[in-house]
Amino acid sequence: MNAPAKLSIIAFCMFALITAISCDRAETGAGATGGGGGGERIVVGFSQVGAESAWRTANTQSIQEEAKTRDVDLRFADGQQNQDNQIKSIQNFITQGVDVIAFAPVVKTGWDPVLREAKSAGIPVFISDRRIDTADPSLYVCFVGADFRQEGRMAAEYMAKVTNSKAVIAELEGTPGSDPAIQRKQHPEMRVIKSQTGEFTRARGREVMEAFLNSPEGKQINALFAHNDDMALGAIQAIEAAGLKPGQDIIIVSIDAVRGAFEAMTQGKLNGTVECNPLLGPALFDLIERHRGGEELPKEQIIPPTLFTPANAAEVLPTRKY
Ligand code: AHR
Repeated sequence: MNAPAKLSIIAFCMFALITAISCDRAETGAGATGGGGGGERIVVGFSQVGAESAWRTANTQSIQEEAKTRDVDLRFADGQQNQDNQIKSIQNFITQGVDVIAFAPVVKTGWDPVLREAKSAGIPVFISDRRIDTADPSLYVCFVGADFRQEGRMAAEYMAKVTNSKAVIAELEGTPGSDPAIQRKQHPEMRVIKSQTGEFTRARGREVMEAFLNSPEGKQINALFAHNDDMALGAIQAIEAAGLKPGQDIIIVSIDAVRGAFEAMTQGKLNGTVECNPLLGPALFDLIERHRGGEELPKEQIIPPTLFTPANAAEVLPTRKY
């Protein structure tokens, strides 16, 4: 066989191979996404609260990894704890004409105008992690996340149990106006003598706890309720710096159940944490796919909380991913 003939056969074989691979990808859905059915990658704009805590880092990773697994074109924006930034990102997503918008709202109120813009543009919106207050629930498809009120109640009941209801509590609150800071605060039966925001960060948790301990009421405090583990871990540093034993002189209960909390529990410095699962990526993208497939979705998908204590901390620690 002469050289041109050989080249033609090679070219034909390559063409046949490429065609076969493309057909296979189209049939199996590889390279396409979800229930849209168009065979094209869907574009999802996601506006995140920020990067304030270990919980948030795990939440971001879960969303990014799940988008990758499903071959979703994810446009990710970090709101840096600022509602205006988040509103601008959502408006950018609308301008870009994304297929879906999802967001974790830093605060509860003030979203209706931008959600109306998304609705007018025909872009479905999913809310993840934190709920919003809205006069018009048709502005979003559904919410996926935790029941923060239930978490607060679980933490309060456990606190009452470990302190024989004798707790004189200092409280580190989350970001003012945020859904978890509002809902986790519901504990009318508890004696809270100091309460201030630590903005869900370790550094602020430490600073505010230091101020609590140095205040005129500081010596009465025998318990701490922190709205998240990062603030509790910061407070533990302040308690130790004040010459006290966290977990003994001051009983500490918090929320999230991140790895650092398990480490603190195994060291006897934290008395309990209520899990708020940050791994919302799979549930969020399932809901998006189901919606694109034409399914009617429930308005809320709630991931239930779990209480972890020093009794089960050592067993769970090695498998804790975040
Ligand atoms: O909205 C979830 C809360 O936000 C987590 O408890 C906290 O750690 C985070 O920053």
